[in-house]
Formats: sequence, structure tokens, C-alpha cells
Amino acid sequence: MKIGVDYYPEQWDKSLWSKDAEMMARTGVKTVRIAEFAWSRLEPEDGRFDFAWLDEVIGIFSHFGLETVLCTPTNCPPLWLYEAHPEIIQTGADGKKIQTGIRGHRCLNSPVFMAYAKRITEEMAKHYASNPSVVAWQIDNELEAYPCCCDVCKEGFRSYLTEKYDTVENINKVFGNSVWSGEYSNITQIEPPTAYPKAWQNPALCMEYYRFTSDSTVKYVKVLSSIIRRYNPKVKITTNTWFCENMPDFYKMFDEVDFVSYDNYPPVRIPENPDEFYSHAFHLDLMRGIKQDNFWVMEQLSGPTGSWAPMAPSPKPNMIKGYALQAIAHGADAVVHFRWRTALTGAEMHWHGILDHSNVPGRRFFEFAELCKTVSKLSIMRNTKIVSDVAILYSPETEYAFKVQPQTEGFYYFEQLKYFHSAFTKYGANVDVVSPDADLSAYKVVIAPSLYLNKKSETENIYRYVINGGTLVLTARTGVKDKHNNCIMDTLPTVFKELVGAEVTEYDPIGNSEQTIMDFSGKTFKCKQWCDILKLSTARAYAEYADSYYRCCPAITVNEYCKGIAYYVGTVCKMDFYEDFVGKLMKQNGIPRLKGLPKGVEVTTRTNGIDEYIFFFNNSEQNASIGLPKAMYSIIDSTGKERIDLKPFEMEIVRK
Ligand code: GLA
Ligand code: ZN
Repeated sequence: MKIGVDYYPEQWDKSLWSKDAEMMARTGVKTVRIAEFAWSRLEPEDGRFDFAWLDEVIGIFSHFGLETVLCTPTNCPPLWLYEAHPEIIQTGADGKKIQTGIRGHRCLNSPVFMAYAKRITEEMAKHYASNPSVVAWQIDNELEAYPCCCDVCKEGFRSYLTEKYDTVENINKVFGNSVWSGEYSNITQIEPPTAYPKAWQNPALCMEYYRFTSDSTVKYVKVLSSIIRRYNPKVKITTNTWFCENMPDFYKMFDEVDFVSYDNYPPVRIPENPDEFYSHAFHLDLMRGIKQDNFWVMEQLSGPTGSWAPMAPSPKPNMIKGYALQAIAHGADAVVHFRWRTALTGAEMHWHGILDHSNVPGRRFFEFAELCKTVSKLSIMRNTKIVSDVAILYSPETEYAFKVQPQTEGFYYFEQLKYFHSAFTKYGANVDVVSPDADLSAYKVVIAPSLYLNKKSETENIYRYVINGGTLVLTARTGVKDKHNNCIMDTLPTVFKELVGAEVTEYDPIGNSEQTIMDFSGKTFKCKQWCDILKLSTARAYAEYADSYYRCCPAITVNEYCKGIAYYVGTVCKMDFYEDFVGKLMKQNGIPRLKGLPKGVEVTTRTNGIDEYIFFFNNSEQNASIGLPKAMYSIIDSTGKERIDLKPFEMEIVRK
């Protein structure tokens, strides 16, 4: 478990390098990430490489006992390269090359760019292969499946489609191109669906284009990581990601590297509306779920954010420390902070680091130093993992399909997952967020919210889970689309009808208006966004609608199927329903519940199979107090405790 910082030696006078490294070491920093944007300094002219300065920096870090995460600088090709080969610049939807001057302008499919990217990666990989200070590599920076419209990408997309479907006739059929005279008579007529508004584009074409751009990103990661591996088979490789506009398929991208890295910027403003999700616990669980393993945070909130947007408030007291520990509580093994010191120049000069422009240590720095001290006590937790009874399934393709076609006002895919995640969190349960293709056999409860796009392997995996005795929850907008992102001539939830033992006779996309459901015990809950009107075959009604023209029709059903149970929640409710429902699921499945946790307190457990370490994080602006069933040993202040008192955003860690 370690704390690190992102550092930009190329942005500082050389005289600061040693001073910074010395201060980092004294503060308790263990890891420094460098070089993701430094191509122009590493290859100042075509084919002339200058690693001397980087050697010096890494040498200084090493002298002070700091390890290095080295990045391929491929996010920012130097301007001489763009000038000599303008064809490598991404092309926008308007057919024009985008303007350079920001960053990340390169087209990942450009063979010319790739030749240069491979060359610098190879030169660096060779040069640093036997440097023990370089403990890991980061490929590029925050890769996006960018919808580039250059000729290479267009050609690439056309070849991707012909390889997959052989002829334009087949493509026409799959895309349903008889709509709006969209039939291709020649492959050259296929264009990326980037013209806005996106909602007017053919959803089947959009889905294939997403697969193509995502695959292009994945291929890029694969090529660069295989070069690094060739020279140093043992070094660990990653790439850092976040929830951006054009997210690549995380499962496929991280298949090409050794571990997941996430750029974590939790909110500093806590919303007043209790139904608004602000905790990054969900994001962290999703990151851990990608490889079903611990991960790193490669960039962590360090100060007021802002630059292209107005600045956000400064992290409140305990947020620097608490949010980093929250990441560890959810499976991060390292938390690297963005950035050591705030830039004096460049577009990001107002995206604050641990140190301000002044270089004078302030409140945030001292809190960061305390964090380093606390984390140094966590070495006993080496090799601990998070073991969960509960999984929530996340599908990148379903996520993309919902982006292309929003379903109803207020309905967002991630939120459908977060309702459940948040409810389990209220009871202190560990939750995994994993692929619908993951091995589900160890989970007592699996929630698959709005699994919109049918994939045979996923459908079979889910059936298998229930057949073998699992408890499953499906929700509205499940089974709607075939794998091409087209609708299906069948009643919903199509492939899952048998499992659910009920079908949807009609649906009502009510958006932000509210209705009421009543469960079997007579409790009522407000529902919104979507109402599936269900007809039972083998299932029983768990809840019915209490108003509208479908009053008394089932809204939620439960079906015993082989050895397992499948619930179908045909509507979207407010949090009180999810807490009630999830509480019952946990009770029925023997999953321990911590009752009466104060609002905002998150509890997770890391274990090495022998010892269990329980993290109590107060993710709220109120003080919180939690009584323990017996005295437990605090790792933070080395005392026995029967009661935990937490200030806002404070963390306690105890050994069970
Ligand atoms: C991202 C990038 C960083 C920096 C930060 C803050 O996470 O990876 O380079 O731009 O955002 O803006
Ligand atoms: Zn391109």
C-alpha cells in the first residue's frame, strides 16, 4: 500500500528536482509517475532521442528511495511530427483536421503515428529495461475511443465491417438499412455515424462504430505493451482510465495490461438531494471489477479542480486523506496524487496539486503528509483483497447503447446500477461490479440492471447462475436489443422471459413523473422513469402498481427457477425501496447486514484469508458515531475501540 504523486520534471527548473524528491521522501511518498506528456523533450528531433535528463530525474528519485512509474509519452506527439505528417492528426466529424495546441490529437489508427509511437516506446523500453527504479509502465494517458473521421479510420471501419459481414448486402440486412433509403450499394458509402444529433443515426451502425473505435484503442494498448514486455517481461504495465465521453471497453482494454489504473476525482460538493449519488465507492468497485483484482489510482484529487471549467471549491478538511483511504478501502493498492505541485504555466495552471503555486506547504499538504503516515501503517494489509457476496453487472456495450438512445427522462444506465450499489453500501456490504461474462458462481446475489443488449455468452452465464442456485435481480429495459442493437420481435424481456416467469405486456416511459407501487406486505413506494406492466406465467407478484391505468398489474415479480430465484423489477424507484428490497435479499441469502449505520458511512472489508480489516469511512458532512459489537484494534491509532467516532470524511480502520 503506497502513496504517490504525478510529477512533471519537464515543467520545472532542474534545480527543483532534488529539492522536490527530498521533500517527497520526507513526506512519505513512495511512487512518482512521470513523462506521459514529455515526448518533445525525449525526442526533440526526428530520431534524436534524449533520455539523459530523464535518467537524471529517475536517478534522483531512486537516490531518495522513490520508485518510478514511467509512461509512454505518446499522448502528446511533438509539433515537428504533426508538421511533417499532418495526416496523423485526428479528423473531426466535419471532415477537418482538429486544431493542434491542446493534447492527444493523434489518430491511433494512423500507421505513421504508430510507427513513431512504437519507435519511442521501443527506445525507452530498451533504455529502461534493466533500471530497477522503474517499477511499472503506463501506456499513454486516459485513452479514449475517439471517433476520428480521417481516411485511415474510415477505411479501417469499412474493412472491419467487411471482415465481419462479408458483403454490403449482409451489412444492409444487419443494419436494417431499408429505413430512410439507407442502403449501401458500395462499401465506400459507409460513413462513421458522427454527425449530430447522434440520436438520428442508425443505432446498429453506432454500435459497430463503437466496437471499432474501442477495438482500435485496445489494439494500440496491446501493441505498445508488447514492445515494453519484449524488453522487460517482468515489469508491470497499466494504462490510466476514467469515465469519459468515449469510454473504450474496459474489460478488453485492461486484458492487454497487468493492472487497472483509475483517475479518481471525487466530488467536493455534497448534494442535498438524498437520491443524488455522489460517492465514488461505485466507481472504485467498478475499477476493481474490471480485472476482479486490486487496482491503482493513478491520479487522485489534490486541490481545487478547474482550468477549462471554473474552479470547484477546495477539498474540505479530511477529503484529501479520507478519499485516498476510501480508494484503498475499495481495493486500491496505490494512490498517486495529481499532482505534486500546481503548474505555473499551461492550460492546467488552476488544476491544483498538493502544493500550491507558491510552493509553500499549506493545509492540503499537511493533510497529505498525514495520509502518507497512516498508509505506512497499512503494510500489514499487503495481499489483502475484497471478497464480496454481491455482484452488480456492468456492460460497456449496454452503456454505449443507452448513450446512443436515451430511454426516458432521468433514466441513466449507471444510475440504475448505483441504486442497488448504494443500497448495499447502506448495510456495509462489499459489492463487486463485474462483467456479465464474469464467473458468478461465488456470489450469493447478482444484480443485472437493465441488461439491454443480448449477448449469448452473457445470457447463458446468467441462466447458469440461477440454475445452480443463485439469486438474481433483473430490471426494466432488459433483453430489449439483439447483439446488433436492433429491437426484437418478441415480448420483453425476450431471452430472459423463461427465467423471469413473466412478460411485459406494455410499458410506460413516465420519465420524471411519479407513481406508486405496493409490495406484497402492503408497503408503498414511489416509482418513476419507467413502468413495465407485467403478466405472470410461473412468477408471483412481489409488488403491484397502485395507480394509473395499470393499477393492480404486477410491477415486480419473483420466480423460482431450477435451484435459484429470479426477481424482475419492472420500474425505477426511490432509494427507500432499494434499501427495503436489498435488505430482504441480504437477509434471505444470509449476507450479514450492519443495521443503523449513520447516513453516508461506508464500510468495506479487506482480507488476506486470515485477518479481516474493516474500513469505516464517513462520506458525509456530519459527525458519525458507530458502536462495535466488541472491542476492535484500530490500525490508525493503535488502540482498542468499542465505538468509532468519525468527523466528516474521516476514516477508521480496525482489525476484526
Ligand atoms: C486527467 C489527466 C491529467 C490532468 C487531469 C486534471 O485526469 O489525465 O493529465 O489533465 O485530468 O485535469
Ligand atoms: Zn483517424
